[in-house]
Amino acid sequence: MSKFVPRVFSGMQPTGNLHLGNYLGAMLNWIHMQDTHECIYCVVDMHAITVWQEPKDLRRAIVDVTAAYLACGLDPRKSIIFNQSQVPEHAELAWILGCVARLGWLNRMTQFKEKAGKDKEAASIGLYTYPVLMAADIIGYHATHVPVGEDQKQHLELARDIANKFNLDFAEAIKAAGFEDGQFFVAPEPYITGPATRVMSLRDGTKKMSKSDPSDLSRLNLTDDADTIAKKIRKAKTDAEPLPSEKDGLKGRPEADNLTGIYAALSGETVEKVLAQYGDGQFSVFKNALADLAVAKLGPVGGEIQRLQGDRAYVESVLKDGSERARAIAAPIVKQVREIVGFVVS
Ligand code: TRP
Repeated sequence: MSKFVPRVFSGMQPTGNLHLGNYLGAMLNWIHMQDTHECIYCVVDMHAITVWQEPKDLRRAIVDVTAAYLACGLDPRKSIIFNQSQVPEHAELAWILGCVARLGWLNRMTQFKEKAGKDKEAASIGLYTYPVLMAADIIGYHATHVPVGEDQKQHLELARDIANKFNLDFAEAIKAAGFEDGQFFVAPEPYITGPATRVMSLRDGTKKMSKSDPSDLSRLNLTDDADTIAKKIRKAKTDAEPLPSEKDGLKGRPEADNLTGIYAALSGETVEKVLAQYGDGQFSVFKNALADLAVAKLGPVGGEIQRLQGDRAYVESVLKDGSERARAIAAPIVKQVREIVGFVVS
C-alpha cells in the first residue's frame, strides 16, 4: 500500500479550440475520475507560452478552455480547476527539478524535436524544458494518476524519472526530514485508457485529430453548431466499400475504423455492436446516424461553452477559487522541497 492518497492531476493547454479528440481521449476520463478520486485539473497557461502567444488571445483562450472544461462536466464542487500561472509553486519547483533532470533525458523527448522542427536554435528554452515544468505540475501535488493522451507518455516517464532521481539524490535529507522510507516524491502513473483514445482526422484516418490541422473539416470542435457538425461528418473521408459487419473487416481501413470508433465512444456501445447494426449497409446511412448522434452529444456542450464565454466573471471566479485550493496543496510540498535541498527557509 502506498502511503500517498490517490490523487489525479491533468492539464490542457489554452491554445485553439478543444475538439472531439480532447473530449473522447481525455475529458471523458477526467469526468469519470471525479467520482472516484480527488482530482486537480489545470489550464496550463505557462506551457502555452513556450511558443509565442498574443496576450489578448491567450487571456481569452484561458477562459475558453475553462468554459469547455465546465461545459463538458468538470465540476468545481468536486474537483480543483485552476490555471497554472496563478500558483507560483509550479515555476519554482520546475527550477529545482531542472537541476535534477539531465540534459540527456530531455534530448530524447520526441515532442520537442517535432515542435522545434528543423531550426532548433530558434526554439525557446521553455519549449525545451517544457517536460520539466510538466513534471513539476504533477509531482508538486504528489499526484498518483495522470490521465493523458498517448502522446504524453514519454513526458510522464520523464516525470517518473525525475521523481525517482530526486528521491535518490536527496535520500539522506529526505529521511532527516522525517520520511523514513525515503520517498518524498511519488512516481506518477500514466492512465491512458478511454473509449476512443485516439481520434483521427476526419480527412485522413491515419493522422490524429488536431487543433493545428489547417483544415477545419478535419475535426469536430466542441463549439461547432449542429449544422457544422452534420456537414463535417457528411464530408468525412471514407473508402469505397460499405462498412464491414465484423471488427476484423476494419483492418487497413483507417477512416471506417475511426468513424465507427467515434460512434462507439459517443454512444457508449462496443464497436462490435455498432457494426452489427450498421455493417454491410450504405455508408451514408451510417454517416447520418453518426451525425445525429454527434449533434445530440456535442450540441449541448457547444451551447454551454457559449453561455459560459458570456459569463467571464463566473469563469474567472472558478479559476481564482481553484488556484487558492491548488496552492494550499502545493505550497507546503514545495516548502518541504526547499528544506530538503538545503535552502534556508525562515
Ligand atoms: N503536456 C500536456 C499536453 O500537451 C499538458 C500538460 C501540462 C499536462 N502539464 C501537465 C498534462 C500535467 C498532464 C499533467 O497535453
